[in-house]
Amino acid sequence: MVIFINGKYIDKGDVRISPDDRGFLFGDGLYEVVLAYNGKPFRLEEHISRLKRGCEFAGIKLENADEIKEFCRSLIERNNLKENIANIYIQVTRGVYKRAHRFPPEGILPTVYIAAAEFSPNRVYQKYGIKVITVPDDRWDHCDIKTIDLLPNVLAHQKAFDQSGAEALFVNGGVLLEGTHSNFFTVMEGKVWTHPESNKILSGVTRRAVIEICNKLNIEIVEKAIEYIEISEIDEAFVSSTTLEITPVVNVDDIKIGNGRPGELTKLIQEKYQRMVNS
Ligand code: PDD
Repeated sequence: MVIFINGKYIDKGDVRISPDDRGFLFGDGLYEVVLAYNGKPFRLEEHISRLKRGCEFAGIKLENADEIKEFCRSLIERNNLKENIANIYIQVTRGVYKRAHRFPPEGILPTVYIAAAEFSPNRVYQKYGIKVITVPDDRWDHCDIKTIDLLPNVLAHQKAFDQSGAEALFVNGGVLLEGTHSNFFTVMEGKVWTHPESNKILSGVTRRAVIEICNKLNIEIVEKAIEYIEISEIDEAFVSSTTLEITPVVNVDDIKIGNGRPGELTKLIQEKYQRMVNS
């Protein structure tokens, strides 16, 4: 498998990452996950904008951000992924320098790593829906920044997995925020509800696509936080993300959602999303 690292295309097995890389030492970096359908990366521009924004926030000088689009396309070609669904992983760290909390001096370039591999979205989850658990949100106050520092997400997701769940939802002050790697939506009174954009959630590319789909279908979207105590009133629920696409949620903390099966609006949005990514 050919990957991209710091300007070079090489075999993944030949990659050498320094132990002094700031990503390794501090989790000091940003990432993106993009899916390419039949060779076409879905909303790559939006992913790169979010990456640029994250780098600006972190003070990482990523000079060649726009070239990343070309590197992604080249990896699809080089790895013969034009006929498949490919998962493109992009990671940028503050680069390599001896360990100190302050930034390295001028001239130390960021580490840029990109890999593209064949990927299969979980169609069983998408057909039957998933069980999720809730966990207290113990992340930092900039969840809109897609940092590689994912320890709280990893711990929460493992907890869900240990309880036969497929995702964990972060709850703060009684409010349902988002999943460990997805945004969360509910359906109530025929409307689709999701947490508004804020520093408490990641502004998901898929989330925006769902909003567009609802607007086109004349389904009212309410960007308002849902309280945990409202769970029993939810008719349908789903999570959205690049890799989960639209995955119905049929159970939250052992509370059945609706009739325990994926809801009709969820299935409609799922179908429209598949059309969108494949068009
Ligand atoms: N995660 N919220 C969080 C915390 C996420 O990590 C993600 C994506 C999303 C959905 O964003 P998008 O629709 O742009 O993929 C929301 C990726 C897929 C991951 O960590 O693997």
